[in-house]
Amino acid sequence: MTARPVIIGSERSDVGLPAGMAILRAGGRAIDAVEAALRECEDNEADHYVGTGGLPNARGEVQLDASIMVGSTRAFGAVGALRDFPHPISIARAVLERLPQHCLLVGEGAETFAQECGFARAELLTDEARRLYLDALGAQDAVEGEHTEASPGDRRYRETARALMQRLAPHDGPWGTINVLALDAAGELCVGVSTSGYPWKYPGRVGDSALPGAGNYCDLRYGGAACTGRGEMAMRVCGAREIVDLLAAGATPERACAEMLADARSLPDEFAAELRALALTPDGRHGGAAGKEGSVYALMTVGHSAPEIRPRRLVS
Ligand code: GLY
Repeated sequence: MTARPVIIGSERSDVGLPAGMAILRAGGRAIDAVEAALRECEDNEADHYVGTGGLPNARGEVQLDASIMVGSTRAFGAVGALRDFPHPISIARAVLERLPQHCLLVGEGAETFAQECGFARAELLTDEARRLYLDALGAQDAVEGEHTEASPGDRRYRETARALMQRLAPHDGPWGTINVLALDAAGELCVGVSTSGYPWKYPGRVGDSALPGAGNYCDLRYGGAACTGRGEMAMRVCGAREIVDLLAAGATPERACAEMLADARSLPDEFAAELRALALTPDGRHGGAAGKEGSVYALMTVGHSAPEIRPRRLVS
């Protein structure tokens, strides 16, 4: 089968899509294109939600999740809560290719595997990310000062609530995990996801980005899908898999993403943070949806010299 190569990605993936399209344009494989694109994003220190420069967990450590899935085989590789290695997407790919009896490694085991594979360690916490972390801790001190008149129980309640909100609230500006989905000239589909997860998350928290069916799913018969945003909702509805099921039932990519988001929204969630989704079919159709106005995704075909920004459908 031959296809017209295409690569799409979530907000801020435009940093990496040209590297992925260069591979596709030369007749390369979707898996190489997805990995190359995400590595560029992971190296972008201005991006505080992925790779080096990602915001740390509550203990001040950067812990990364990533996954990669191939459409024809539904082979899946992932890492979760990985410290000290700047390209988790490459380690996820190594899990897929070198450990076929496994799909997901987390924490210390993932780090041991990365070291055995020869990946180099690096400092992931940049000065800017450390400053944002310390600012967040400072805000917490101010909260304690505000409530000196309250009873100890009252104070504890308010502090806990505020701490949770601060830990889980998205920051201003573009935020979230990065998704990249590619279709190569041979007709293969691949989906990759990389993230540093929630800022100040509970140490050891692994999100949807590392989980097949939740943040990432790819089936060459119907299409690939990926999620960004509130990962626990993508986990609860198996968001990426739900989108692929909707594609299989005949929905367009945009509609499939929107229906999954509507399903996730129907569930109780006290944090009510936003979820977004993207999908790409084996015949090169694509689309996305989001719960926030102005949300976009990036697209490159062989004819594009630079990423084109497309709107996502709003699910309000
Ligand atoms: N969607 C990314 C995360 O929840 O970590």
